Formats: sequence, C-alpha cells, structure tokens
Amino acid sequence: MHSLGILLSGRGSNFVAIANSIDAGRIPDARISVVISNRADAPGIATARQRGLNALVIPSKGKAREEHDREVVAALKQHKVDLVCLAGYMRLLSPWFVQQFPQRILNIHPSLLPAFPGLEAQEQAFAYGVKISGCTVHFVDEELDHGAIIVQKAVAVLDTDDEHTLAARILEQEHIAYTEAINVVLQGKFNVVGRRLVTTP
Ligand code: GAR
Repeated sequence: MHSLGILLSGRGSNFVAIANSIDAGRIPDARISVVISNRADAPGIATARQRGLNALVIPSKGKAREEHDREVVAALKQHKVDLVCLAGYMRLLSPWFVQQFPQRILNIHPSLLPAFPGLEAQEQAFAYGVKISGCTVHFVDEELDHGAIIVQKAVAVLDTDDEHTLAARILEQEHIAYTEAINVVLQGKFNVVGRRLVTTP
C-alpha cells in the first residue's frame, strides 16, 4: 500500500481531487496517511479533518526554512509517507527536504512550464496574451517550479476569458492531471533521462 503525504497552504481542491480519486479506485493501492498545512487557516486542513484524515498544522511563520522543513519531514516519516504531493503548498522546499525523498515529491503548477513559474501563473499567462496555457505536474527539485515534467494538460485561452474563467478551466485540468501523474509515479514504469520522463513498457 502506497502512503501519500499531502502538503497544502490554502483551499485544497487538488487535495480533494486526489482523495476522491483514491476513494473511487482511480489511484489503486494508495492511501493518504497525513495532510500537513503550514497555515492553520487553510480551508484544506479543515476539509482533511472532515474526511477523517490525519491533519496537522505545522506553522512556518517566524521559522527558518530548514527548521520548518525538518518538522514537516519528521511528520511525513512518522506517518511512513513514500510519496509527497504538494497541492497548493506555497513554500519553496529546502535542498535538504528534496534530498529526503528522491523522485518522490510532486508539485502541480497552473501553467505550461517552463512558462510562468512562480505566483499567480494563470494571471501571468492571461496578461501575456498566450493563446494556450494549462497545467504541469512535475518532480520537485531544488529550484522553483523546475523538476522533470510528468504530465501536462493544455487549456485554450478564449477571447471571452478573464483571468478567473481561465484559472477555473485550468483547475479542472489540474484535478485530472494530478491523478494521472501519481499513477505514473506509483506504477514506476519510467526513466528520467536528462529532464525527460520516458515511460517504459
Ligand atoms: C492550484 O492552482 C495550484 O496549481 C497552485 O495553487 C493552486 C492551489 O489550489 N500552485 C502553485 O501556484 C504552485 N506554484 P488548491 O489549494 O485548490 O489545490
């Protein structure tokens, strides 16, 4: 049984999509062992509690990055997590954290990376005037929004869009993409060659 740890800072819709996929059997042989937020007021942590999951708040405010990361990693290891899913976790992980889970930390980002890394990617894409945007699930490495790409989904930008309608259509695709990416990683039938994830038979 695979043991997932979810890290979030806010709304938690990607977390809910993952939890729903597990409950529906779309991610076989997996469970969510712990949900951790760095913010006590994250709606996602209340949702995790309502679903009866282990839900922890480990506040980041006022702590050095690695000090906070050590607390988070200790909690993940205590819950025997073998796959860490960042789901709107608005913190850069320290290199030390990344090294604790080699090729076992995923992130979702609401753009077609390497375009528009960082905050408010949907607004960045909309303001830039791209005609196609989307979302990316990738391995986490030491750089922001940077590791090898696992799954991407394209979303057309419509003339009638504003940044909110675009973000909403991207979010629908995020929820599909995260489940796909988790299955790719858990099935383990891939190699990472340079930056390229290549599936194997
Ligand atoms: C999602 O759109 C996710 O892609 C984005 O934060 C949102 C969290 O929503 N993440 C990033 O921008 C990471 N750089 P959620 O809390 O409803 O899952």
